Amino acid sequence: MGDSATVPVLLDCDPGHDDMFAILLAAAHPAIDLLAVTTVAGNGPLEAVTRNALAICTLAGLDGTVVAAGADRALNGGRHTAPGIHGESALDGAALPDPAIPLADEDAVTLMARLLEESERPVTIAATGPLTNVATLLDARPDLRGRIERIVFMGGSAGRGNTTPVAEFNVYVDPEAADRVLRSGLPLLMCGLDVTHQALAVPEVFRRLRAIGGALPSTLEALLRFYGGAYEKVFGMPDPPVHDPVAIAAIADPDVVACVDVAVTVELKGEHTRGATVVDLHRVTGAEPNARVAMELDRGRFWDLMLDAITTLAR
Ligand code: BDR
Ligand code: CA
Repeated sequence: MGDSATVPVLLDCDPGHDDMFAILLAAAHPAIDLLAVTTVAGNGPLEAVTRNALAICTLAGLDGTVVAAGADRALNGGRHTAPGIHGESALDGAALPDPAIPLADEDAVTLMARLLEESERPVTIAATGPLTNVATLLDARPDLRGRIERIVFMGGSAGRGNTTPVAEFNVYVDPEAADRVLRSGLPLLMCGLDVTHQALAVPEVFRRLRAIGGALPSTLEALLRFYGGAYEKVFGMPDPPVHDPVAIAAIADPDVVACVDVAVTVELKGEHTRGATVVDLHRVTGAEPNARVAMELDRGRFWDLMLDAITTLAR
């Protein structure tokens, strides 16, 4: 277990191209002690995203990483994936190695609960997929609330959506789970589309990635090109936003984002707006802030963190 200068982190994710970058940053950044990676259905079915998590750890030589599988559907039983962005495997674009590390025999929520109990210090939960596992953990083990330092999640938006006109993917897939997390009363940092759409993989990022050299950067580049192609096709964006590692960067280096403390609620009923996060940026409701919301990204600092992590892993 890491020293007191590091932040103990549980990463719950649905890899996914950008989740892959989140795993790599969490594993390699010296300020983070990555306790485990857990998976949740989201970008692909649970089997696919779990296999991808194992394959990513294998590819990057993260042999000691504990990986456990969690929910295969949203709290309401729904299933919604993103093959149009991430491909049929949820991580299309390059051949990945067969996983050489085992899947934990505990399920994600059991593993998270055990690691929270065992940690000497409160743990930060980073969530870069639908919040199903995190909400289930909070419901099942209210006694562990005091063991959670905060929950940092990629999801939501103070503006428009990317899955419906107003709903972001992770919240859209499991709005009830996001609602439970946002009403948990725990310290929360939301890294939504407002900030992650600033984490664009511009051509200079591709150049720097290639310049690192070696098998890992070249596989990452191929995967990122697939993801970029999908973003161009679906959203007409020439440079893809690499959402999920922004949440990890905000843990490793809090100054990488500028935030506001505001009230955030999840729309659960709206005929056209289910899954939207309603962010009271101008404090018009009078509601007390329940979340910190990242609004601005220090792009240079973010990409330095991400590319330094890849350089470390490529050695
Ligand atoms: C989020 O949705 C997923 O497709 C990405 O992995 C990211 O977590 C962006 O809306
Ligand atoms: Ca994700």
